[in-house]
Amino acid sequence: MKGARFLMFTVVLLTGCATETPMDPLKGYEEVDATTILDAPGAIPGTYSPQNRDLVARGEYMVELLGCGVCHTDGALVGDPDFDRSLAGSATGIAFTAPMGKTHPGVIYPANITPDDKTGIGTWTDQQISNAVRAGIGRHGNRRIASMPWLGYAKMSDDDAAAIVSYLRSIKPVSHEVPDEVAPGRRATHPFVYFGVYRSKP
Ligand code: HEC
Repeated sequence: MKGARFLMFTVVLLTGCATETPMDPLKGYEEVDATTILDAPGAIPGTYSPQNRDLVARGEYMVELLGCGVCHTDGALVGDPDFDRSLAGSATGIAFTAPMGKTHPGVIYPANITPDDKTGIGTWTDQQISNAVRAGIGRHGNRRIASMPWLGYAKMSDDDAAAIVSYLRSIKPVSHEVPDEVAPGRRATHPFVYFGVYRSKP
């Protein structure tokens, strides 16, 4: 009798395993290492006045220190930066909705921040650039999504923000269009990465 009950239990258990397909949340993804140290492109002499030399040098130092190029350079997010297009935007995007969901995440592609008029920030005002960096505000006043870590830059001094602006204005303009933002639920046609910190629910 005891043996029979044990047998039944085993069968139910096996059936249970066979019908419940465990979800593999990482299916379709691979682990990559972002490039964490990236030289910022050198400022081009002649694009700034001699009085601005120190400011521009400070801006270059800050852009390296704050890791702007890791997002804003093609390939850097997946460990293979295209140095000819430093700071000219990334065709690898960043997901901005929770991972492992059933639908496709929303994806944003870090912008071209070289002074190219058409595809970069060549026609942005100083105020617009520093608003983007320190307050995450887009050119037309829309609040930016969290993928740009502006919260970490919010307390940057006016002088430091001005240094970054002066530097970005003095690098080589690179014409490079990044893919459009992809709304949550739509399938991105270009690759993207996930960032984030998650904790288990109690
Ligand atoms: C973790 C990734 C990441 C880092 C690091 C980062 N950014 Fe961004 N940045 C973004 C994304 C994403 C956008 C939004 C692009 C869009 O709206 O199309 C953006 C937008 C911008 C914009 C507005 C340009 C535009 O066309 O939208 C500027 C200017 C900018 N970043 C400058 C910087 C600077 C300077 C730094 C370093 C101090 C920096 N970013 C660091 C991801 C990043």
